[in-house]
Amino acid sequence: MKLSLVTGAASGIGRETALQMARSGYHCVAVDVNVEGGQALAEEALSGGLSLTFVPADVSDDHETDNLFSHLRDIKMPLTALVNAAAIVTFNNPEDISLADWDRIIRVNLRSVWLMCNKARSLMAESGGGAIVNISSVHAWATDNLVSPYTASKGGISALTRALAVAWGCQGIRVNAVLPGPIDTPLMRSNLRAVGDEEEEYAKIGARLALGRVGQPIEIAHVVEFLCSMKASFVTGAEILVDGGMLAHA
Ligand SMILES: NC(=O)c1ccc[n+]([C@@H]2O[C@H](COP(=O)([O-])OP(=O)(O)OC[C@H]3O[C@@H](n4cnc5c(N)ncnc54)[C@H](O)[C@@H]3O)[C@@H](O)[C@H]2O)c1
Repeated sequence: MKLSLVTGAASGIGRETALQMARSGYHCVAVDVNVEGGQALAEEALSGGLSLTFVPADVSDDHETDNLFSHLRDIKMPLTALVNAAAIVTFNNPEDISLADWDRIIRVNLRSVWLMCNKARSLMAESGGGAIVNISSVHAWATDNLVSPYTASKGGISALTRALAVAWGCQGIRVNAVLPGPIDTPLMRSNLRAVGDEEEEYAKIGARLALGRVGQPIEIAHVVEFLCSMKASFVTGAEILVDGGMLAHA
């Protein structure tokens, strides 16, 4: 059995992706700082007969990620897929963002991706190759005034994805980014509450998309599953927009 590693797996897109990777035949190691959510995921997987274990870890912490990768080595299955989905966001005008908030967001959203990719690289190379999918955002391409560190982190993920794809292609490692539009997750719901009435904002956002509705986490998980599979064997360094036509809409 092959091994997949999914971060931010206690909630939303990461959670559905972890379940989908397990459904598609991987053993999935699901990672998150949210221990309660991670344990609930592991219980759901167990009751559905899926091969998934939860490992609590802060992906921005060098020591905790070292421990995580020692654990992965002990599992002795070839690591062939890594999905980096963990992220946080704050809302503020650029001029009002504290240095602490800026550092925290870049650390959790961007530095962690570099850490995880680097640590996964040697295991993947030993396994004969693998696929990395970094969850970026439409904000890497088009954004608004309240989420500048988040936007910078997502733009950074897209650029880092290209750099790693170029560096590691000849080692058999493909690296791609998925740029979701609005997807119904706890993160999106809290974003809506930060700007206005949750249900009103939800309806407004859906109406602005070409498909006329907000997306579901499984619709991102399916694209991630494809990118990790051999059906995407010639896809690397790509940014795949999965936004219901949000950025196509004038
Ligand atoms: N939901 C959307 O509309 C949307 C749109 C574009 C991009 N995204 C991206 O999709 C990804 C998943 O977002 P979501 O909406 O599912 O969010 P979510 O808040 O539902 O899930 C994010 C998970 O990341 C975990 N996490 C946060 N910091 C962590 C850390 N330091 N170490 C380990 N885990 C950590 C959280 O505990 C949480 O379980 C993120 O990268 C987000 O930027 C989401």
